[in-house]
Amino acid sequence: MHIRVLGSAAGGGFPQWNCNCRQCAGVRNGSLRAQRRTQSSIALSDDGVDWVLCNASPDIRAQLESFAPLQPARRLRDSAIAGVVLMDSQIDHCTGLLSLREGCPHNVWCTERVHQDLNTGFPLFTMLSHWNGGLQWQPVRLNREPFRIAACYHLRFCAIPLISNAPPYSPNRGNPQPGDNIGLFIEDQRSGASLFYAPGLGQVDEEVLGWMQRADCLLLDGTLWRDDEMRLCEVGHSLGSEMGHLAQSGPGGMLEVLEAFPRQRKVLIHINNTNPILDEDSAERALLARRGIEVAYDGMDIVL
Ligand code: MLT
Ligand code: MN
Ligand code: ZN
Repeated sequence: MHIRVLGSAAGGGFPQWNCNCRQCAGVRNGSLRAQRRTQSSIALSDDGVDWVLCNASPDIRAQLESFAPLQPARRLRDSAIAGVVLMDSQIDHCTGLLSLREGCPHNVWCTERVHQDLNTGFPLFTMLSHWNGGLQWQPVRLNREPFRIAACYHLRFCAIPLISNAPPYSPNRGNPQPGDNIGLFIEDQRSGASLFYAPGLGQVDEEVLGWMQRADCLLLDGTLWRDDEMRLCEVGHSLGSEMGHLAQSGPGGMLEVLEAFPRQRKVLIHINNTNPILDEDSAERALLARRGIEVAYDGMDIVL
């Protein structure tokens, strides 16, 4: 299984266009040793030819430009994108579909609740129906039955409901139900290798722990180091726990959770611009390195 990190930042990217925090300013003026990052999305393939996008970020145009295997190569108008799977209906995970309109129709896998948001509060499906067949909804069910995507036949996808949060525009905000956010357990049937992908993970319950144990590689929510980081950096009021993101530090935080996974490759993704792990010289980044936890970057390739 080929995994390409197209974008590794949380909503807003890094640096965020309107942010002058220490880290955003530092990466702009060169005083901070850190890489720029676009908003989170990955591409998966079983053969390196046909690819499935997990999430479609508002930065998709630049992400496609930066990765030749996704570019047109076979016909006058062409794409190697065989389908899009959405983890939720958040703006940073769906808006890229608007930029894919020239290539409609696209098959889009998402849960019924995400489909509902994308037909009401943010009516992407409705709007894009005016572009050559638009978005063809492929329902993702929560029965833990694996599903396949024809062009990547050797990959088996299984959706796991996560405790996180629905987007601010959704009627489900603050009261998320199963299906508002999912993680994916993806297995390559040839190698038997597997990935657990969960860029928006608020709480790690028993079921999630079980899927994490089964996986060979964990690609997990890395939004915040501290639950109150947005307040501490004076850029916002929301806690990570309110937004549906489990912070890395503190009791019960992601670092503690990951202690139970010595065998797995561990990578953080969807990293907010305030998170000190973006600073390659920070104590927090050094601590991750000592724990064997990697920080995803745009252009990162993982082969399982
Ligand atoms: C989130 O991950 O909580 C959202 O993407 C935040 C946002 O709307 O940018
Ligand atoms: Mn997000
Ligand atoms: Zn910032």
